[in-house]
Amino acid sequence: MSFKKLNVAVIGCGYWGPNLIRNFGGLTDDCTMQVVCDQNQDRLNHMKRLYPGVETTKRFEDIINSPEIDAVAIATPVRYHYALAKECLRAGKHTFIEKPMASSVVECQHLVSLAEENNLTLMVGHTFIYSAPVRYMRELIQSGTIGEIYSISARRLNLGLFQKDINVAWDLAPHDISIILYVLDAEPVSVNCQGKAHLNGQEDATNMSLEFDNGAFATIQSSWLDPNKVREMTIVGSKKMVIYDDTQPNEKIRIYDKSVKTPPHYDTFAEFTFSYHYGDMLAPYIQQVEPLKVECKHFLDCIRTGETPESSGLDGLRVVQILESSTASLRNGGSRVELTGHWDPIEFFGKCDELVGQTASAG
Ligand SMILES: NC(=O)c1ccc[n+]([C@@H]2O[C@H](COP(=O)([O-])OP(=O)(O)OC[C@H]3O[C@@H](n4cnc5c(N)ncnc54)[C@H](O)[C@@H]3O)[C@@H](O)[C@H]2O)c1
Repeated sequence: MSFKKLNVAVIGCGYWGPNLIRNFGGLTDDCTMQVVCDQNQDRLNHMKRLYPGVETTKRFEDIINSPEIDAVAIATPVRYHYALAKECLRAGKHTFIEKPMASSVVECQHLVSLAEENNLTLMVGHTFIYSAPVRYMRELIQSGTIGEIYSISARRLNLGLFQKDINVAWDLAPHDISIILYVLDAEPVSVNCQGKAHLNGQEDATNMSLEFDNGAFATIQSSWLDPNKVREMTIVGSKKMVIYDDTQPNEKIRIYDKSVKTPPHYDTFAEFTFSYHYGDMLAPYIQQVEPLKVECKHFLDCIRTGETPESSGLDGLRVVQILESSTASLRNGGSRVELTGHWDPIEFFGKCDELVGQTASAG
């Protein structure tokens, strides 16, 4: 099948942007990695040395004013996501935004509505949902292999990189939240979050908990102040338990045939005993592909087919709603914040005009 190759621009060539440039640059059948933009000339010079065929510019306007550019990927600090994405969408560019999608729910809503109105693809960089182990976990859960999901606990810890504009929950928890929403397919109903800012005024260690409408419960621990790099998620089900350790080169998923049952009948306390089941541990072979490559290809495919991305603007908004509520909880000593009213896209699109009006001053 022949189709027009898409011309792609990437904005932001700091730590993460070069990974997007490399992956879009490698998808030579689908796109041309045409322009990269950064305010820092040293970063542009570095990109030019790595990719001599790619144009570089410090001027964002060069991208939005170019009729040749079909799609833009934004990998700047979060505080710039909304303003840049808004201009891209207004200029008719399909837009990919790194996680977290924007700094507030209302910014996300505006971007979702702009993409919808202009019939453009809007995708968010929830990279892990494109990784083979996470897809495997989803299959395990959706097929019923794990049984009823009781709880999920995620730990994403390391030393740094401290961010200036967001706390550690906004930086690291989007990965865990997006994975949990993807594998569980359940709606979160409330969030609690506690944390502490030790060094630069932003919380560098947080503990978040989420309750879901299907009874599942999740905790997410995030830290920039830990001596070890930890990327671990434990899923406890009624039939089996799973540990996903992303720091392992192989065997990232281990399925434990362990479970606990309560006795169906007992007359006295002495007769009450839990029944523990100890079975084998299975570490399935999972073929690895770079998740970012899958993600970049999916963005280009969605532009071509008009399909909704698996990490759409609405998915980005859901994650930001949880983050925003986590901040409200943090500011209130960890109290429970209900998540209501934002989940129905049909209802949401019905309110688009009203929301755009409300956010006109946000830009
Ligand atoms: N998906 C993932 O796994 C993953 C991993 C790391 C970071 N990220 C995300 O990527 C984004 C960037 O993070 P980072 O760590 O690379 O940040 P960074 O600070 O290292 O780099 C950002 C770059 O953007 C440039 N920049 C800032 N404002 C700009 C503007 N208006 N126009 C052009 N360039 C501008 C800066 O000069 C800098 O080079 C963040 O949203 C972050 O959360 C995603």
